[in-house]
Amino acid sequence: MAGEQERRPIRVGVMTMSDLGARGQREDTSGDRIVDFLPGVGGDLVERVLIPDDREQIRSNLVRLADEHNVDLVLTTGGTGIAPRDVTPDVTASVVDYQVPGIAEAMRAMSIQKTPFGMLSRQVVGVRGRTLIVNLPGSPKAVTECLEVIRPIIPHAVDLIRGSPTDHTPPKDERPERSA
Ligand code: MTE
Repeated sequence: MAGEQERRPIRVGVMTMSDLGARGQREDTSGDRIVDFLPGVGGDLVERVLIPDDREQIRSNLVRLADEHNVDLVLTTGGTGIAPRDVTPDVTASVVDYQVPGIAEAMRAMSIQKTPFGMLSRQVVGVRGRTLIVNLPGSPKAVTECLEVIRPIIPHAVDLIRGSPTDHTPPKDERPERSA
């Protein structure tokens, strides 16, 4: 794992999906919680967006943050439930190259311990290119609880996706010669 000293800041995009929030009828407290969390994990906020639960807007913002802004991490909040307008997990699954189910499972397992409603979040985690995308549920309480679950793995996950040398990937000149 790269030492804390030499680690580049983690470039982060924050997306809130909320029909009410996008209409200015609800404060984006959940987005605020994410932004407040970033310094503790070496995260730099690159862009924050507040959009309705609209498939095309969610898709285009995820793609733009990953492919044009080259963020290391996108943290989304909202739209992970089972109402007809809750489409964040479906759009996320459609734009990632592969999912990282363990991260989503760990958050959901904790959530179910806190409230049975944890079962209702379909949150997805996956990687698009060099960007880790993490869905968080919509309530500020759920955001804080889920961020605490992933806090310890964020720096190492970002290192792995960047392809940085890690504990289990020694620098090239330390690797044993291959015989064949
Ligand atoms: N997870 C945690 N840790 N804490 C919570 O309070 N609320 C749940 C769930 N996950 C909750 C949670 C509720 S009430 C719902 S409906 C689902 O997340 C989906 O929320 P969303 O549609 O706002 O994303």
